[in-house]
Amino acid sequence: MCAIRHTNLKRGNMGVCRVLVLLFLTLCEVYSRDPYSICASLKDKSDCDQVERQDFVRCQYSLHNVDCLLNIENKRADFGTVQPEAALVGAKFLKNVVVVGEFRTDTELDDSEFAVVVLVRKTHTGGLKNLRGKKYCHPGFKFNHIVTDFVLKEFENTVLKENNAEGCKNKVSTATLLEKEIRAVSEFFGPSCRPGPWFGFEKFDNEFYKNYSNLCELCKENDCKAGNVPFTDSINCLLNGGDVAVTTMHTVYQYFNSTEYKNRIDEFAYLCKNGEVRGLDNPCAWSKQPWNLIVVNKEKESVIKSDIQSWFANNIINTNSNIEPVNADTKNIQPILFPTDQEYNKIQIVAEAPTLLEYIAKYREIPSTEEKCGENIRWCTVSNAEQQKCEWLAQASANVAIQPTIKCIQSPTPFACLEDIKIGGVDVVASDAHLGYIARKKDLAPLAFPDTASKDRIKPIIVLRNDNNSINSLADLKGKKACIPDYGGIEWLSFINTARAQGVISHSSCDYGKLISDFVSESCMPGAHDKEHEVSGNIDVEKLCKLCQPDPQESKTGVNCNSNTENRFYGHVGALKCLKEAGEFAVVTQEDYSEFNPNDFRVLCKNGSLAAAPGFIVDENCALTKIIDSEVLAKKDGSKVGNINAVLLNLETRFGSDRHKFFEVFNSFNNTLDLLFKDSTQGLSYLQSQSTHIKNFVQLFEDVQKCVANDKDNSGTRSGVTILSFAICLLLPLFY
Ligand SMILES: *[C@@H]1O[C@H](CO)[C@@H](O)[C@H](O)[C@H]1NC(C)=O
Ligand SMILES: *[C@@H]1O[C@H](CO)[C@@H](O)[C@H](O)[C@H]1NC(C)=O
Ligand SMILES: *[C@@H]1O[C@H](CO)[C@@H](O)[C@H](O)[C@H]1NC(C)=O
Ligand SMILES: *[C@@H]1O[C@H](CO)[C@@H](O)[C@H](O)[C@H]1NC(C)=O
Ligand SMILES: *[C@@H]1O[C@H](CO)[C@@H](O)[C@H](O)[C@H]1NC(C)=O
Repeated sequence: MCAIRHTNLKRGNMGVCRVLVLLFLTLCEVYSRDPYSICASLKDKSDCDQVERQDFVRCQYSLHNVDCLLNIENKRADFGTVQPEAALVGAKFLKNVVVVGEFRTDTELDDSEFAVVVLVRKTHTGGLKNLRGKKYCHPGFKFNHIVTDFVLKEFENTVLKENNAEGCKNKVSTATLLEKEIRAVSEFFGPSCRPGPWFGFEKFDNEFYKNYSNLCELCKENDCKAGNVPFTDSINCLLNGGDVAVTTMHTVYQYFNSTEYKNRIDEFAYLCKNGEVRGLDNPCAWSKQPWNLIVVNKEKESVIKSDIQSWFANNIINTNSNIEPVNADTKNIQPILFPTDQEYNKIQIVAEAPTLLEYIAKYREIPSTEEKCGENIRWCTVSNAEQQKCEWLAQASANVAIQPTIKCIQSPTPFACLEDIKIGGVDVVASDAHLGYIARKKDLAPLAFPDTASKDRIKPIIVLRNDNNSINSLADLKGKKACIPDYGGIEWLSFINTARAQGVISHSSCDYGKLISDFVSESCMPGAHDKEHEVSGNIDVEKLCKLCQPDPQESKTGVNCNSNTENRFYGHVGALKCLKEAGEFAVVTQEDYSEFNPNDFRVLCKNGSLAAAPGFIVDENCALTKIIDSEVLAKKDGSKVGNINAVLLNLETRFGSDRHKFFEVFNSFNNTLDLLFKDSTQGLSYLQSQSTHIKNFVQLFEDVQKCVANDKDNSGTRSGVTILSFAICLLLPLFY
């Protein structure tokens, strides 16, 4: 138990802890200066409301610690508390955030939350060399959040590199860098105990344990999983015949101070990062973990530091006796800043207010985002803000040793991203569902589906003007003027699919562009003139652009068919404007559209009946389909599929939405929504998902594909959109 004491501080039940009773005096202290803005999470709302009754503090909400740092950097917040992992991610990027204090649960005054050390037999020579074939003892990989894979792998990665044994050329069945690493460790060391989970998915891990069985050979239990006292297990393994062990300094102290093992001190030694071997009386650490931090914007450093010292005077370890406790009611600030009573116990003020980078340097190196074995995953971004989030994500991923590393490459537009994947300049992007048809024309295929809450799904509906139009069925739409938000988009595609399935649109061709072009009269389908939209060569461009109108403010041209705001009728609102002013039917995603009078519109349901009442509110079966709003795309059958899947799985396990996570990749970054992933994303689903809204989405493109398969006259492009044939991916066993 004691051995893992340092590893589960934040989650664990620490047993009996001193409960602090703080005597805060009056409620009426009112500060004359502007209130401080502090980082808070939404679960602190009620405490925040209490704090804000007084005028000295207000809350700046953020979903994760990284956004707290960004709020402080950009002066949206003055100070807050963060986990050290967030500081490790932000250190390289932030200039204005300084550290004024540390806080901890622990009553002992260790200089770090934990320190990783390596023990060897005293007789070991040759430093980090001369370890080939040695018996390797390791705690396993259980503690994602606090003891990251990076620190747990630091020793073996360093040794393999020193010995030129990284195994970059290894052939492995999953074609993942992760398996190459495992293979390299397995080939370098002799019989060992290096428990899992190695990958994080049981079915897969179990197969790895068999294929690289020497890494499990010395483990007491045969299932090769980390035990309850992993750092002690690792020393036990060393004493039972191992040659080298990864553990923590604290565990070593406890172990060799015990009467049972005191007499064996002379058999073992520390192996330092520089290769030095030192006696147990002279420890050296590899990486050390900083404590939780109190961080402030540097401009407010001195005033906030002294206020914190007076607010929490009773809890400061290195008290400055000159500071008087103040009569501020801080009892509601405490839970906002310090999530548990235990953590509030020990605050240590940091003297010089170092920047994050200076502060971290005392503990460890910041992991490099450089690629290993020349492998990487190139993620496409389309704005500076997105590029920044991607670079932070790349750092966060490197910090927890996700392999391969992520490289961020900026393209001008989402279309350009798809094109860049097609030509091999980038590897992956989470793309709007609206680009799905075009993406498949470019031979891209989905690897994962960002899943949303029900309310965020896309429900395309056919909308008519609510006047004396003569439209009473889908068939009546033939020869009418259509307003579509975007050529090739989801509304466009689901309309053609539905109309085709009901025999309203001709079956004579599978060229969807030609089908819709022949079906409607003068229309507005933004992008119909645009090569990037993968338009069919058989459409009447003039007809499909005819109704579009240039926006007088934004467009310099007299006609405008662009799929952007230069075109007044672009997008959903644009399509409804188009319907109101010029068209006869529109296909848009169901929403409130509060800018319009609902009585001007009436929905035509999928089954061909008019909705009972005017407006956009109709029942679910009325919509053409109901689908997710984005997908993760890569090149179909590309060689990086295994690695991309491995990275995606890890991104969700480590940075998925969860209030304990210090960085959430599916949530806002630097106060900006929808970067890299839409904020509606709750998690990733994979190809075999049986959820209706995902199956519907896949179905949309399968319909196109089936059409290709059935149509013998279609000598044109093999526009095949293939999800099915994609299914042969080496990582696939994982997802069943
Ligand atoms: C394990 O090895 C076998 C035989 O070489 C191979 O077929 C299988 O795919 C491997 N499994 C994993 C998970 O690497
Ligand atoms: C025993 O513990 C003390 C402090 O707790 C430490 O300084 C010392 O190095 C430990 N002894 C060994 C052999 O680790
Ligand atoms: C609807 O049609 C009726 C008769 O066909 C006509 O009297 C009325 O003016 C029309 N209303 C509109 C809004 O076109
Ligand atoms: C068509 O669908 C709508 C919406 O689900 C429903 O209210 C209506 O009764 C259906 N009409 C027919 C003829 O089935
Ligand atoms: C965050 O947003 C601000 C503007 O609000 C901008 O100045 C800054 O460059 C952005 N990025 C970072 C990393 O702070």
